[in-house]
Amino acid sequence: MSRGVVLITGASAGLGEEMARQFAALGYDLALCARRVDRLEKLRDELPTRVVVRQLDVTDDDAVFTVFREFAAEFGRIDRVIVNAGLGKGAPLGTGRPDANRATARVNFLGALAQAEAALEIFRAQQRGHLVIISSMSALRGMRKSMTTYAATKAGVAALAEGLRSERIPGVDVSVIYPGYIRSEMNEHVRQQTPFMVDTATGVRAMVAAIEKRKAKAYVPAWPWVPIGAAMRVLPLSVVRRLG
Ligand SMILES: NC(=O)c1ccc[n+]([C@@H]2O[C@H](COP(=O)([O-])OP(=O)(O)OC[C@H]3O[C@@H](n4cnc5c(N)ncnc54)[C@H](OP(=O)(O)O)[C@@H]3O)[C@@H](O)[C@H]2O)c1
Repeated sequence: MSRGVVLITGASAGLGEEMARQFAALGYDLALCARRVDRLEKLRDELPTRVVVRQLDVTDDDAVFTVFREFAAEFGRIDRVIVNAGLGKGAPLGTGRPDANRATARVNFLGALAQAEAALEIFRAQQRGHLVIISSMSALRGMRKSMTTYAATKAGVAALAEGLRSERIPGVDVSVIYPGYIRSEMNEHVRQQTPFMVDTATGVRAMVAAIEKRKAKAYVPAWPWVPIGAAMRVLPLSVVRRLG
């Protein structure tokens, strides 16, 4: 018996792929999308519940609506949408890589906006649903150099989520997850001993637990990110700049 249907974007790698595994283990059916559909098909064949996969580039607004509507039609409902697809490209502003920063802004902010629009269309019609936005600890303050645009997009999506929560849409819950450092494709080039980096399964277990509790906000894993988050919000920028 299915516990419900969870739609995850960016499910072909990293946190999205592991969330798919863990939600399937909890008994959820899954609607999975990403650009690399071959990886989604392989994942589908390994999972114990009903899984439907679609190719989707979240920067294609029309395709986001089409794919989300197709998933809703195929399952008859969508209980939770996890806005996870993300890009960690970036370069210091004014150093000749506006393309990298624009690509990050397109995927992480405009892509998330399209996903939230498409999800809310379904949830308003159903009068129920859980929207989950994957932000980042880097959203809490401005970050320097190659992180500047990325952190700004993650602050942007967190603000989007708070605005939606403030709207109190009947039957709709909104959660923002702020992961710390969790091993994934995005940071596989980052050295092994990065402080506080946890393996993918451990980090995603903390994400899934927070999502299942439908928390409005969660810094994950809680240790050490809850105290770091509290400190980040009040520390002077001269200290915060050493974190990113
Ligand atoms: N890992 C961390 O430590 C960490 C920390 C804070 C926040 N986050 C956030 O967590 C989310 C997942 O990141 P990750 O670490 O799992 O990264 P990842 O391993 O690089 O995976 C990113 C996923 O996003 C998908 N994606 C990228 N561009 C896309 C596009 N244009 N359209 C559709 N899908 C796209 C990728 O699939 P395709 O390439 O197949 O399309 C892939 O499945 C991101 O939002 C990231 O910002 C991660």
